[in-house]
Amino acid sequence: MERKIIRARLLSFLREPQTPDDTESFRYIEDGGLLIEGGAIRAFDDFDRIDRTGAEVIDHRPHLIMPGFIDTHLHFPQTQVIASWAAELLDWLNDYTFPEETRYSDPELCATMARAFLERLTDHGTTTAVAYASVHATSAEALFVEAHRRDMRLITGKVLMDRNAPDGLCDTAQSGYDDSTALIARWHGKGRLGYAITPRFAITSSPAQMEAAQALAQNHPECHIQTHLSENHAEIALSCQLYPDAVDYTDIYARYGLLRDNSLLGHAIHLSDREIGALAEAGAKPVFCPTSNLYLGSGLFNDNKLRAAGLCNAIASDIGGGTSYSMLQTLAEGYKVLQLQGQRMHPYRAFHWITRGNAVALGLVDRIGTLDAGSEADFVVLDAGATPAMALRMDRARNLMDELFTLQVMGDDRAVVQTYVAGRAQKAI
Ligand code: GUN
Ligand code: ZN
Repeated sequence: MERKIIRARLLSFLREPQTPDDTESFRYIEDGGLLIEGGAIRAFDDFDRIDRTGAEVIDHRPHLIMPGFIDTHLHFPQTQVIASWAAELLDWLNDYTFPEETRYSDPELCATMARAFLERLTDHGTTTAVAYASVHATSAEALFVEAHRRDMRLITGKVLMDRNAPDGLCDTAQSGYDDSTALIARWHGKGRLGYAITPRFAITSSPAQMEAAQALAQNHPECHIQTHLSENHAEIALSCQLYPDAVDYTDIYARYGLLRDNSLLGHAIHLSDREIGALAEAGAKPVFCPTSNLYLGSGLFNDNKLRAAGLCNAIASDIGGGTSYSMLQTLAEGYKVLQLQGQRMHPYRAFHWITRGNAVALGLVDRIGTLDAGSEADFVVLDAGATPAMALRMDRARNLMDELFTLQVMGDDRAVVQTYVAGRAQKAI
């Protein structure tokens, strides 16, 4: 079996950093080595301590290697929706996003865009994604095929939506159930792939479809569930009007058995204390989408309040409501959202969040999110001096924290020197 040693500075988290001085929460090795074999990390140590017998050495010094970034919420068929000029969420969906997603009934377009989409992710250092496909089974199929070809860890699902959208973008309760069941049978657990049961949100699913989603969830406890919750005020009002028996927006999903510990709830911005308590009780995972929330003017995610209630928050790009594939830019905007609420995001916590933190939120930390021996060999090579402006800032960097914060505030795909997926370099350099 091919053996490779990657030499660089290495950083990987052991647990979530509690304070800016919590240097015990990570392992940082100045001259480190990763031994890669069979798509997995076999050793994570000082370079000198690694057995180099029969191994090719790839030297990435002086760059910094971290686990590959994990994006827990984005939309495959919105690759060409980014930067569409809209007043707010519901206009943006109706005017740009729904018309664009209707194009994904075409398998050829899906195959072409699946390649472009996964390439954009790895160019930006993202090695695992949880993506919404379109309503068409063919879109999920194309994304699974392409991720499988790359041996990339990916969770996706065809969207369930049967109302309040154009005809070409609606399934039925029955066809959505049947298509999802067939996709789960074909793809869930195959290689590095997983299926997410994906009712888009309450507005676009009838009660009959919500019952179908509930049945899917019951039949497949191993599958993630993903949906949108409490993103903006007009969406909340319409959802509650469409489900008058529910006490609030969160209760709509609760009534259909869609809240559990592998449920991912995009946005979760305007929640009452009751709703926060219900999410905490279910162990569901709110997903913070800062570039999207600022771009669509949706609101400010209250990270501290949710954490204080015991919730484990994930973080994500939400392409194409989000404006960047970069999880570095996602952190930059996330930092500002929290600043506006008097909350501070320390760079150690930030980089924990997009690596091990999101892996924990997905229940996948035994496989991804760290450089620990036994993990899948997904990692990213970063250069904090990649642009002239970053290089000037780095001239005055004093320590690892300064380097990380420069990456977090100023970094994007230009700071990603290379991305490895299952031990294989993805970027042509
Ligand atoms: N709510 C329902 N669908 C979507 C979507 O595609 N993007 C965002 N940001 N919110 C949604
Ligand atoms: Zn979304």
